[in-house]
Amino acid sequence: EVYNPNGKYRVVSTKPMPGTRWINLLVDQGCRVEICHLKKTILSVEDIIDLIGNRCDGVIGQLTEDWGETLFSALSKAGGKAFSNMAVGYNNVDVEAANKYGIAVGNTPGVLTETTAELAASLSLAAARRIVEADGFMRGGLYEGWLPHLFVGNLLKGQTVGVIGAGRIGSAYARMMVEGFKMNLIYFDLYQSTRLEKFVTAYGQFLKANGEQPVTWKRASSMEEVLREADLISLHPVLDKTTYHLVNKERLAMMKKEAILVNCSRGPVIDEVALVNHLRENPMFRVGLDVFEEEPFMKPGLADMKNAIVVPHIASASKWTREGMATLAALNVVGRIKGYPIWSDPNR
Ligand code: DGY
Repeated sequence: EVYNPNGKYRVVSTKPMPGTRWINLLVDQGCRVEICHLKKTILSVEDIIDLIGNRCDGVIGQLTEDWGETLFSALSKAGGKAFSNMAVGYNNVDVEAANKYGIAVGNTPGVLTETTAELAASLSLAAARRIVEADGFMRGGLYEGWLPHLFVGNLLKGQTVGVIGAGRIGSAYARMMVEGFKMNLIYFDLYQSTRLEKFVTAYGQFLKANGEQPVTWKRASSMEEVLREADLISLHPVLDKTTYHLVNKERLAMMKKEAILVNCSRGPVIDEVALVNHLRENPMFRVGLDVFEEEPFMKPGLADMKNAIVVPHIASASKWTREGMATLAALNVVGRIKGYPIWSDPNR
C-alpha cells in the first residue's frame, strides 16, 4: 500500500497501523509512505531487508522484529536516518548499533501509560475475583444456583499492592489501585517516586478527614521486601540483562501463598517454567499475564492452569492509544528526516 508515490522521502511501516493521522502527517511532510501487508504476523530480518530496499529514509517497526546490527546496517546503506519502534519498550532494538550507523531511534511513551495501567488493573481485578474462571463456569452450564462458597476471591480494599518498577506505567497503576480500591502501597524502584508518595499521603489524609481508614505507602529497600509483604504485585520494569528472570523460583517462594502476580511489562521478566510449577503447587496463588517469555508461545502447562489469566499482549490496545503510538512513531521518523532531534528518544 503506497501513499503519495512521488513524495521526496521514503518511509516504510512494517505493519499497517491504526488510524490515518500518522499517514496524513507523513504525507503532509512530503513523504512517500509504504505500508507492508505481508500475510505473516512476525516479519523476519530478511523480510525487512526487502522492505528497506535500495533507498529508504526511515522505518516504523514493531516490537516483534529484531532490530539489530543487520537491519541498521541495511537501513544505513539505503540512506536511512531514523527508526521508530511503535512501542515504549525497545528491548528488540540495539540502540548502540543504530547509533553506530548514524540512525536515530525513537519509541512511543506517554500515550500508552494509562491504557497499559488499566489493563494491569483489569487483570488484577479479574484474578482477585476469579472472573475468567467464573465466566467459563457459567458458559459451561455448571451454575446450579447461589452458594456461599462459590468463586470466593480476594477483597482488595485494605490489602497491599506491590509495584516493582514505579516509572510512568507503574506509578499510574499504583494510583489506580490506591485511589480506586483503597489499597496500601509498597513499591520498589531504583528512583524515589516523590510524586507517587505525595499522592498517596494526600489521599490518605483525605480518607482520614472523611472518617475512613487512611491508606499508607512504603518505599521498599529491596524487591524481596515487596514480594514478601504485598498481596497483589504488578511488574513494571524495563527488560534488560538485570531484569531477565527477575521473578524466579526462589522469589516466587517468597510471595504469600494467596498472592496475585500481574505482568504487563515483558515476558522474560518472569521465569515462566518456574511460574507454571508454582501455580501447580499453589492453587490459591493467581496470575494475570499479558506477556510471555517466548511470544507467541506459552510454556507447557500454563494454558491448563485455572489460577492463570492469559491475554495476548494487549495492554496498550485501546483505539486512542494505538493511534497515538502510530502518530508518535511517524513524528519520530519524519522529525529526524527533517533534521530535528528525534521526538521521543529512549536514550533520554
Ligand atoms: C510497548 O509499547 O512496549 C508495549 O509492550 C506494546 O504496546
